[in-house]
Amino acid sequence: MIKKGLLVSFEGIEGSGKGTQINLLTAVLKENKIPCQVIREPGTTSLGKQIREILLHRQSHICIMSELLLFLAARKQLIEEKLVPELSHRQVIILDRYTDSTLAYQGTALPLELIESLHEKAEIRLKADLTFYLKIDYQLSLKRQKQRNEKQDFFEQKKQDYFNAVLNNYQKIADREPERFKVIEADQDLTSVHQQVLKIWQKYEKNF
Ligand SMILES: Nc1ncnc2c1ncn2[C@@H]1O[C@H](COP(=O)(O)OP(=O)(O)OP(=O)(O)O)[C@@H](O)[C@H]1O
Ligand SMILES: [Mg+2]
Repeated sequence: MIKKGLLVSFEGIEGSGKGTQINLLTAVLKENKIPCQVIREPGTTSLGKQIREILLHRQSHICIMSELLLFLAARKQLIEEKLVPELSHRQVIILDRYTDSTLAYQGTALPLELIESLHEKAEIRLKADLTFYLKIDYQLSLKRQKQRNEKQDFFEQKKQDYFNAVLNNYQKIADREPERFKVIEADQDLTSVHQQVLKIWQKYEKNF
């Protein structure tokens, strides 16, 4: 496949503003006539939707390795069924979470090296070209989740120590891959966060 599209992912803990910032960026892309689409993972393919349901509203205990393998199954399916064909066209594909989420979340219980080697063995090699990491702390995450007032899913019910471990893993990725993984200070108002995203995007856009 000749890859003509660009894969842009958004990362961050619950309530960090991924959905909000994706909408704002998409509006700018559309205004500038840059073809784009948003994909949520897991959940875009039929298999992914079923896996998402199992993971977020689980009825019984799922051990951590099974959890990881379910995420990988959804991701593999998404790559084969959707991302590879779509990336053969010139367009921006925006992902609401991708591989870094698996490293950050499942990496709280499993070594990052193990998660990476399973991706490799399953031939899940498609990486995001550019990632916006919306960085907020746990307290702000809780506050924004409460504002939303929806029933909490499995991951949202976890406690402070867990989220701090997730944040720690995101930071490790930021230290390791500063070129791709852009840290955005997301504890500011919507517009300031959007401006930070746009500034990075505008630099990047020149090569697209
Ligand atoms: N910069 C901001 N300042 C204040 N409130 C914000 C900001 N960004 C988002 N919010 C609000 O916080 C809540 C969560 O935002 P959003 O749904 O975009 O986060 P998310 O990262 O997609 O969360 P999740 O991972 O749970 O889907 C929403 O009510 C949104 O309006
Ligand atoms: Mg969201």
